[in-house]
Order: sequence, then C-alpha cells, then structure tokens
Amino acid sequence: MISRRTIDNVIETVRIEEVVGDFVALKRRGSSMLGLCPFHNEKTPSFNVSPSRGIYKCFGCGEAGNSVRFIMDHEKLSYPETIRYLAKKYHIDVEEEYQPEDVKQEIQEKESLLLVNQWAAEFFAQQLWETENGKAVAYSYFRERGFTDETIKKFQLGFHPDGWSNYTDAAQKAGYKLEYMVKTGLTIEKDDKHFDRFRNRVMFPIHNISGKVIGFGGRILGNDKKQAKYLNSPESDVYHKSSVLYGIHLARKTMMGDDEAFLVEGYTDVIALHQAGIDNVVSSSGTSLTVDQVKIILRYTKNVTILYDGDPAGIKASFRGIDMILEQGMNVKIVMFPEGEDPDSFARNNTPAYVKGFIKTEAKDFIAFKTTILRQEAQGDPIRTAEMIREIIHSLALIPDPILRSLYVKECSARLQMEEQVLINELNKQIRSNQKKTADRPPDFEPEELDEFGFPVGSKIDPAPKVEAYHAEAQENDLIRILIRHANKILVFHDVDDKKKPIDLQIRVGDFILNELFSDQLDPENLVLLKICEIFSESTGDDFPEESFFLHHPDPVISRTSINLTSNPHLLSEHWKEMHQIHITDEETLLRKAVMTAVYSYKIRRVLMMLKSANERLSTGLDEVEMYKTLERSKQLEEVKLALAKQLSYVIL
Ligand code: CTP
Ligand code: MN
Repeated sequence: MISRRTIDNVIETVRIEEVVGDFVALKRRGSSMLGLCPFHNEKTPSFNVSPSRGIYKCFGCGEAGNSVRFIMDHEKLSYPETIRYLAKKYHIDVEEEYQPEDVKQEIQEKESLLLVNQWAAEFFAQQLWETENGKAVAYSYFRERGFTDETIKKFQLGFHPDGWSNYTDAAQKAGYKLEYMVKTGLTIEKDDKHFDRFRNRVMFPIHNISGKVIGFGGRILGNDKKQAKYLNSPESDVYHKSSVLYGIHLARKTMMGDDEAFLVEGYTDVIALHQAGIDNVVSSSGTSLTVDQVKIILRYTKNVTILYDGDPAGIKASFRGIDMILEQGMNVKIVMFPEGEDPDSFARNNTPAYVKGFIKTEAKDFIAFKTTILRQEAQGDPIRTAEMIREIIHSLALIPDPILRSLYVKECSARLQMEEQVLINELNKQIRSNQKKTADRPPDFEPEELDEFGFPVGSKIDPAPKVEAYHAEAQENDLIRILIRHANKILVFHDVDDKKKPIDLQIRVGDFILNELFSDQLDPENLVLLKICEIFSESTGDDFPEESFFLHHPDPVISRTSINLTSNPHLLSEHWKEMHQIHITDEETLLRKAVMTAVYSYKIRRVLMMLKSANERLSTGLDEVEMYKTLERSKQLEEVKLALAKQLSYVIL
C-alpha cells in the first residue's frame, strides 16, 4: 500500500495544467486555461482548467475533478495506479507502507488472477489473429457475424484453441502458476490432471470498470443445439457475476455524457450496437439482471432504456428489469425489436442511422409498454383486464418518489380510461403491503463488494457519487459552498452593549454556521455537510482549512462535491445577487446576507421535514396521550417555522 505521506506529497506537487496538458492542448484565458474536452466530442472548447485551484471542469459535459481524478478517468487507472503514475511523472519516490500479512496476500492473489486473465486475453487474441486455425475458424466466424477488425480489437475478442490443454500448457510455459489459472477458471483441475475449460470457442473477455480483464464468455463456433452456446468463467475473487456489466469500461463516459444507458441481453448485442455508433450500452451477460448491476448504472445516469428481444422470454425479462430500475428511483423506457430479432441482428440488418432512429422513435415509457403488451394478452376479458391493471400498479408502487408516482397515475388513468381515484386506491393498498413486507423482513447486512485492491467497489473508481448529488438539497449545498470558500472570513454584526452604546461583534463565518447548526441540534443529515462540519470542529490550527484542502481531499465524495459546488463560474456574490435579484455593492454586507440566508433556509427546510413527519404520525391512529404530544409538537414547529421565515425575509430585504 502506498503511504499517506507519498500520496500527500504527490497531491501537493502535481500541477493540474501539466497533468492535463499531456493530453489536451490548453490555451490561457484570463486566470484559467481552456481546451477541447477529452470526455465528450466538441468543436468549441469548454474544458476549463484552473491552475490556481488545481481543478478542471467542463462546462459542456459537466466532468470535473482534480489531477488524480483526471488521470483515473482519462487513463482508466485505479487510485493507487494513478498515484504511481503521477509520482513517476514528478520523480517522487513511492514509499510502501506495511500491511498485515493476510491483507497483503489477498491483494497479491487478486493481482495474480488479473495478470493470468490479462495474459490469457492476449494469448486468445494472438491465436485468432496469428494462427492458421484461428484465422480460418474464429476470425472468419466474427467476420461472418459482421464484426469489423476494429471492433474485434476494441473488444479484445479471441479464440481458444481446441485440444485438451493448449492454453494451460502455454500459460505454464510463460511462467503462470497452475494454482491461479485454476482459480480464474481457465484451467480445470481433476484428479491431479489439468485441462482447458473453453476448448474450441471464440472468446469474449469481460472487463471491470477500469478495463481490466476479470473473466471470459466463450461461444461455440456454430449452432450445435446439443452444446451450451456460451460458457462463462466461474465466480472468482475478481469475477462476481452479479455485479458485472459487460461493456461498462467502454460505456461509462458516454453514459454520463448523454445521461442515458442502454441495457441489452448479450455480448453480441453490446458489440453490434457499438459498431453502429452507440457507445452507452451494457449487458448483464451470463445472469439475469441484478440489483447490483442496476446500482452500477445509477452511478452514471438515472435514465435507462431496455433493448430486449421481442419474444416472450425477452418480454418477461424486461418486466423484471423495469421493476428493478423503478425501485432504484430511476427512469425506464423500453424498445422491443421485431419478433425474432435482437439488437445484434437488427443492427446487422440495418444502417447505423436507421438503428439510432428506430431506438429513438420506438422507445416507450414503461406504462405505454406494459399496457400495450398486457392489453393484447387480456383480449378484452374483464377478469384479465383487472389483473393487468393490478400488474401495472404493482410497478407504480415501487417508485420511491411520490410526485413521479402521481404523474404516472395520471398517465395510466388516461391510457386505461379509468378514474384516477380507483387507481390511487389500489396503489395505496399495494404500497402499504410492500411496506409491511419490508418491515417484516429481518435487516440484511449485505457484504460489501471489494475491488481488486480491497477497497469497496466504487469507492475509488466511481467517478461521480451521483447518488449523493441527487439527494443533497439546494440548502445544504449552499452551506457547503459557503463553508468551503468563506469559512475564515469575518462577519460583523451591529449590536448595542449594556449602556446602549453601539458595538460591532465579529465572528468567523465557519464559527457562525457551526454555532447555528449545533446549538439548535440540527446536526446535518447530509453526509458531506456533516463531514465538513466535523473537520471544522476538529480543526486545531488558527484558521479553518482552506478551499484547496477540500478540493483535494482523499475521500472522493468530499473532493468531488467540493469541486462541483465551487466550480460555478459565478462568485458567491453574483450567485446570491442573481438569486434574489437585488443590488448590493459592499462585499461584507453581501457575505453576511448570503450566510444568513443559507442558514435560515436550511433551518426552515429541516423544520418543514420535522413538521411533515409529525403530521404523518398524526394520521397513524395514535393513542390519546401520544396524539396530544404530537399535536403540541406540530404547533411548536409551526411557530418556529413562522419565526424563521420572518427572519429570512428581513435578511433578504
Ligand atoms: N447466455 C449464457 N449461456 C447460454 C446462453 C446465453 O450465458 N447458454 C448469456 C450470454 O451472455 C448471451 C446472453 O445470455 O450473450 C443472451 O443470450 P442469447 O440471446 O441466446 O445470445 P446472443 O447474445 O443472441 O448470442 P448469439 O447471437 O451469439 O447467438
Ligand atoms: Mn444474437
């Protein structure tokens, strides 16, 4: 493990303009530098680099980060790899820290499995491109399926030769240990004999988010119905089927840039769509879709379009997918391909432009999709129609956001020509029964998924903690922004002393905010805000930490949030003036007003939330004593709310 000291040294040394400058031509523009964004296609530059703050932000696609983030995203490196890369660039010695033996061994073992896989992928590719047999059977198979050379290379497709142990022998000869080859599943061990798992198959390497080979899918060359069409690597320390999406390493950028993901069923669907110019596509190859896979997509986008076969199995799978996606609070659309076609065959038989157009025009929201399909099935039969309505409501009941839910109810009522209230009643019934089901379930502790370096999956590789961003409210964001940027500035309050003589009270912004939040016991619920408050209360120096401390904080959630919140081109004052459409010239007055607005708005929001939960309690049939207490509380909260609103309006005016 790299020592903390080395990491700090690297972060202090790197210059963002030099790190980015290795990949992007930058021109000076005022205090910042400008270039063409490497994360999305653009003709006019909107990629800003700020040397003084050590960060970049693209105003076209929203990508933002510091030097470490840039290398991780651009070069698809993990966190430790990035630190090593930057250390090398700046000639910094990397100091390794002592690790407990078992952790070290585990990491070494994972790295060994990854190396075995990487070598195997290269071996299979070489078999395909360079051997007579490979060229004759595998290469021509892919060409027949319409894959270009470029596509075959992009996906690192290969060929596993026939025979009992061609791969195993070659790998051993190259110095790889049998033990690791068996653990990856490429070699099967039986009664002390060793032979290859994937004999005579074309090979699809499966990559993790950072592009490392973690497993394989192998397909037979023909259409022999007696053999399993695909064989997949077994579970291993580096390959966990249920949390892998095929194609994710190639899709993530566009998924984030376009704010949309396409979900298909198979390896070849992903590949064929790429060839048709659609990059933001992944599949759950080898398993039916899992919650973990949906959550991986959610890191990049909330919008998923399912592209499945139009056969009954495809429809059934898409119904399952719809519910899982809705349950995560995401939006889902569905495209059905004509009977007998999957995205792969469809892309092969039509031009890329037609495929793109088809997907765009055919994408239906899930209500339109489910009603169309189920209506066909019900054929006017009233009992089956009632069943169908219940089935649609079942999906609606999974949507966590009540506003979205009620919008869908409206659409449903129009589509089904049914009264909204009838649908709402059924919906409420199902929501209650779902709640009961979750309440009855014992709490489950999901074991955390670890990546190849033993970090929780996503903790370092995850480019955007989007989930947090969705839940952070504007009021909290305002407080975070002010704390990061202005904590050490002084606020002046005009007051009078005992003898009514006017005095000026001075207090730092950071102290003021911390006092306000903690004295009212409004400890933040937002994790980033809470963390920042903790850092401030624990800070021992004369000053609170400065902005750069947060921009380069080792916790990616903190650095990412800080960068996003402070890289708005407006200064705080501009932002505030714009928000309230007023004109103030004096900086100090402005800051004071902005701070107080943020604090009061935040408090009002918290009080409103408490009011809501008190009122919800009132409707649950409390006993008399509890009812009385809750009513009292609700009344007090109303008063606090009014008082705060009044103070807020003073501040703004
Ligand atoms: N699959 C599998 N094992 C099988 C069949 C399918 O693991 N015996 C997985 C594969 O990941 C496959 C996906 O399910 O890509 C979809 O299956 P299917 O639609 O049958 O395969 P296609 O991708 O259409 O395969 P092809 O076009 O090569 O026939
Ligand atoms: Mn197919």
